[in-house]
Amino acid sequence: MPPGDKERLIVVSNRLPLVLNAREDGTWDAKGSSGGLISALVPVLRRRGGVWIGWPGTIDATRAEVEPALAAVSEAYGCTFKPVMFTQQEMEGFYFGFSNEVIWPLFHDLFTNCNFQPDYWKAYQTVNRKFAAAVAEVARPGDFLWVHDYHLMDLAGELRRMGRPVRAGFFLHTPFPPLEIFLRLPWRFEILRNLLEFDPIGFQTLHDRRNFLTCIKVLFNVRVKGTGSVVRVHVPAVGAEAGPGGAIPEHSVSVGAFPIGIDFQATANMAMRDEVRAKAAALKADIRGRQMILGVDRLDYTKGLPNKLQAFRNALHRYPELHHRVNLVQHVVPSRKEIPDYQQLRLELEHLIGQINGEFTESGWVPIHYMFHHLGAEDLAAYYLAADIALITSLKDGMNLVAKEYCAAQVEHTGVLILSEFAGAAAQLQRGALLVNPYDIDGVAAAIQRAFTMPEKERRERMRLLRRTVRNEDVYRWADAFLGVTTRGGLAHVPYPEDYLPSASS
Ligand code: G6P
Repeated sequence: MPPGDKERLIVVSNRLPLVLNAREDGTWDAKGSSGGLISALVPVLRRRGGVWIGWPGTIDATRAEVEPALAAVSEAYGCTFKPVMFTQQEMEGFYFGFSNEVIWPLFHDLFTNCNFQPDYWKAYQTVNRKFAAAVAEVARPGDFLWVHDYHLMDLAGELRRMGRPVRAGFFLHTPFPPLEIFLRLPWRFEILRNLLEFDPIGFQTLHDRRNFLTCIKVLFNVRVKGTGSVVRVHVPAVGAEAGPGGAIPEHSVSVGAFPIGIDFQATANMAMRDEVRAKAAALKADIRGRQMILGVDRLDYTKGLPNKLQAFRNALHRYPELHHRVNLVQHVVPSRKEIPDYQQLRLELEHLIGQINGEFTESGWVPIHYMFHHLGAEDLAAYYLAADIALITSLKDGMNLVAKEYCAAQVEHTGVLILSEFAGAAAQLQRGALLVNPYDIDGVAAAIQRAFTMPEKERRERMRLLRRTVRNEDVYRWADAFLGVTTRGGLAHVPYPEDYLPSASS
């Protein structure tokens, strides 16, 4: 039975979309996070009476301690949030280990950052089983399960092995790597077999989908039907003897490209609030009429932060007219701090920023303003509104929602978006953004100079195009497109733009 509007939706993600805080009396308080995912999915969950299952983001509290906070927030949102708690050991092996030291770097083509520890794989299986048990506790016949991201690729397989199969779709928020990178994964058969138990399987771009299809053609000899953005894949029966991971019966699954969007209207409304406008004006006044080049990135080696700093240094060398006329305002959001590569990256960045500021600072002008902390939604909107240029230099990125949020918050239409061509967002935003190859330091520096001198008319035209795309292809459309495949029963064409491919003139 295809899931209609009446059937329940169960969403599963590694993290619940909530922020938990300890109160002084030892109890916990939870509130919804400000992301697009929660805004898009909560209305569907509310309508269908669904459940969202995930880790509440702390190992300092017990289940009994967080449950009252989750009950209160569930009441406020009109749908149920159900926690899966981790032990310290599970955090190390499943979250920091397999998810973020194996799959994360591998899927971003950075396989030299991978730490293929066999124990990590065991922890991944154990925690996927734990999530499967949490789903089995609440799932009823006819429910549809929507599983998010690389932490939970085994979930549908685990449910079947437990004797509790549930119809389930999967969306990967990260990129999917090319065959020659994916093949290095010691558990490549098991991961792909488990993924093939979902239907549909969704990716951010056609490029990611193509990589996935190549991998399953080579490893499982599947046949692909259709040519649209959603195709149907016939998976022949695979016996247990054909490799690790257990047998799978002959079946078909839909595989599609569904670029995630943001809640455009909510972001634009936030940028139009009086408090946010006042904050943005104060930020502009602080830099005394200079142009603000804004960076907002999680501390992650996929974001190309050293490349961005080198390009900025290069621009200051080659275009002295930028001196005293621009500031790079770089926010770095702390992340995954127990992983050595992340600690190392922080040291590298702070060293580089110190060098650049040491070289160029003059009385009254410090070129880079660097902040290492979390940013509240209102402050973030004020920075977006105040920034003349947003600079995104990811080496590889599933989508990059900062690019879309910047456009939505640019209600004055005068900002310029400089965007890495290796961010998923480049496919949709290629017409309005200045696309750059983050490895081309001269090229990024030239884009900074071009954005700095861009006439207002061109800025406005480009930003109008960008905002139109971000508005039309928002997170609600994304959720409808993905869930629509389940009701349309397979093949569908979702009219999204083709991949971005560089040309000699770009
Ligand atoms: C990426 C992943 C998300 C993840 C987020 C933050 O965007 O695709 O699944 O939640 O990073 O990372 P964290 O490890 O803090 O959850």
